[in-house]
Amino acid sequence: MQDRRSFLRLASAVGAAVVAALAGIPALRAFVSPAFRRKTAEKWIKLGDVSNFETGVPVKVDFVDTESDAWVETRVLRNVWLYTEDGENFTVYSGRCTHLGCSYGFDQESGKFVCPCHDGEFDLKTGKVLGGPPPRPLDKLNVKIDDGILYAAFRNFRLGIPDQVAV
Ligand code: FES
Repeated sequence: MQDRRSFLRLASAVGAAVVAALAGIPALRAFVSPAFRRKTAEKWIKLGDVSNFETGVPVKVDFVDTESDAWVETRVLRNVWLYTEDGENFTVYSGRCTHLGCSYGFDQESGKFVCPCHDGEFDLKTGKVLGGPPPRPLDKLNVKIDDGILYAAFRNFRLGIPDQVAV
């Protein structure tokens, strides 16, 4: 009789431990997985025929990006700015201000990129910060020309820090 009681106590303790472990797995996964999350890969974005871009004039190009997080897929409208002086060498910047990620624009009068959120200012040719709170220059993207078509490798970078760190 004593053995049977002991066995039942042991069996219920083991059962409770298994249930607790199973219930804890999702919580543990949510806690640990960010440390192992892969950085988002570069995505080559087609910007257009190189012969279509005017020299000396920055151009904003919009595109739709798809982000996946577990089972959720989200579409986000993004943009980049491109600039060329000779039609052969292109500079492409991420369209997100390096301060807090607002979209910035080009001010024809001053010849600078300006961010409306906190008055950040950037140099057209180098992306250097000329004013305001942005902690680093605009994020330059890798570019390639394939069969006369210009592509930029888009990726996200951490905002609000002096170093360019891909996320
Ligand atoms: S987000 Fe651009 S200056 Fe703050």
